Amino acid sequence: MGPNTATTAKPGSVDDQSVDAPLLEPQVDNQRDLPPEPSGVMECEDLNVYYGDFHAVHDVNLIFGRHEITALIGPSGCGKTTVLRCLNRMNDLVAGARVAGRVAYHGADIYDSKVDAIEVRRRIGMVFQKPNPFPKSIYDNVAYGPRVIGMEVDDLDSHVEGALRDAALWDEVKDKLKQSAFGLSGGQQQRLCIARTIATKPDVILMDEPCSSLDPIATSHIEDLMVDLREQYTIIIVTHNMQQAARVSDRTAFFTARPDETTGNRTGLLVEFDQTKTIFSNPSDRRTEAYISGRFG
Ligand SMILES: Nc1ncnc2c1ncn2[C@@H]1O[C@H](COP(=O)(O)OP(=O)(O)O)[C@@H](O)[C@H]1O
Ligand SMILES: [Mg+2]
Repeated sequence: MGPNTATTAKPGSVDDQSVDAPLLEPQVDNQRDLPPEPSGVMECEDLNVYYGDFHAVHDVNLIFGRHEITALIGPSGCGKTTVLRCLNRMNDLVAGARVAGRVAYHGADIYDSKVDAIEVRRRIGMVFQKPNPFPKSIYDNVAYGPRVIGMEVDDLDSHVEGALRDAALWDEVKDKLKQSAFGLSGGQQQRLCIARTIATKPDVILMDEPCSSLDPIATSHIEDLMVDLREQYTIIIVTHNMQQAARVSDRTAFFTARPDETTGNRTGLLVEFDQTKTIFSNPSDRRTEAYISGRFG
């Protein structure tokens, strides 16, 4: 909305036809000034993904901005998880998955044959939908990554503490580091998984619906944490919770799925990508507007 509309029309008056009023006002203290174009850490160019013969995702072009949170939203089955998994070559591990197009990280193609997928996944870490701590102690969960990759750390104890502090979990676990991770609540387990991811010093953190199994309080802890982590990391999050996308993300990519006329198979595509405040207040595509106003999906 332009500044004039706010001053000339009284809310609720006939002048205020609300034609350009936000559909879903992002309830955010997250209205940062962003550059119009993200300064890209990662980029997808004409990304297509197939599972066997099934064309799951069609021609996605996206840029993920440094120290920004980018949300991927859209109805179930539109390919959000598929796209996210492409960003750290997790689809390499999915039988039948094939990726075409380019995924660049600091300009380099992560699918280049000379690139080590393990190193890709260290730089571009992932947090899953359901907290998946290892059957180990809290300490050993966080120390796992640095140990496995032989990371040089001055002092493992303080490294583990740092990761737990960054994940806003330290105060809750500092007296029980040797206890099993399974004794923690769901929300604590998810923050532990975030601590485990950041312990190997990634650059980008991918999160696939990280709050979908959590209660509202645990969810708000994770959302606060994401906003803090944005200072140090680039975050890409899949969420089906639009309020969450509105609350935490800087930019939003809206996907949908289009059925193939002959097979009926639904192929995912990117409809619109913009600053979150624009997507939620003034989207340019009808399909985005229908989705965020709850008329579809
Ligand atoms: N491992 C897989 N094998 C075959 N098809 C898959 C696989 N994973 C996802 N799909 C299909 O790809 C499409 C996109 O799925 P997904 O990326 O999980 O969507 P979203 O995360 O948006 O719900 C869906 O039709 C889904 O059934
Ligand atoms: Mg998914």
